[in-house]
Amino acid sequence: MPKPWNKLIVALDLTSQKKIKEVIKTLSPKVKKFKVGLIAYTRFGPKIINWAKEAGADVFLDFKLYDIPNTMIETAKTFIESGVWAFTVHLKAGQEALESLKGALTKEARLRKKRRPLIIGVTELTSQKASLNKVLQLAEVARKSKIDGVVCSVWEAKQIKEKFGLCTITPGIRAKKEGDDQKRIATVKDALKNRVDYFVVGRPIIKEKDYLKAANQILAV
Ligand code: C5P
Repeated sequence: MPKPWNKLIVALDLTSQKKIKEVIKTLSPKVKKFKVGLIAYTRFGPKIINWAKEAGADVFLDFKLYDIPNTMIETAKTFIESGVWAFTVHLKAGQEALESLKGALTKEARLRKKRRPLIIGVTELTSQKASLNKVLQLAEVARKSKIDGVVCSVWEAKQIKEKFGLCTITPGIRAKKEGDDQKRIATVKDALKNRVDYFVVGRPIIKEKDYLKAANQILAV
């Protein structure tokens, strides 16, 4: 079976500029999407977005915005200018806030003749136990507010796709039980069986010496 490189998003959760650049350089011939979160962004700022884009990859900005509408809108407007592929918001922000965020970003993107980044709502963190029902309730907020997709675990992805047709992005990917902070974990094979659109892998790749070998290995399990 061909390896699903096109579904892999590698999380650049690193504090060394040298390592971040190495990961991008080593993996970008095959990996087309990198996730930038607070660990790296608070140290290096918007230039990380350019490091990934210069390597021909898309950026998934994971700040999990959760604030009043005006703060989320004004923050997210800068993502249009920096050309990120997608960014996360927290679904607990609610339907009204998310609808106004999408409306404001669509308008701004049109005005600037740029692409609107995808808005991806975070359901429950994969580091916590959560009932399917709770995750589906949050995913329904995403559908009602007509944003583009959700972050969930592999174990909710199929139902979310069937019920709401949203794009699903799933962290918590492990080849085996690692004993770390992730709780709702799954393998890449589980992810494919559950029809996820993308899966996020951080530490199982970026903490290894040979990033390409580690990525190859996790994609095979
Ligand atoms: O290292 P690991 O593979 O656990 O990385 C998973 C990444 O996905 C981390 O950057 C984490 O912040 C992020 N994430 C998550 N669970 C969510 C949303 C984002 O693990 N629900």
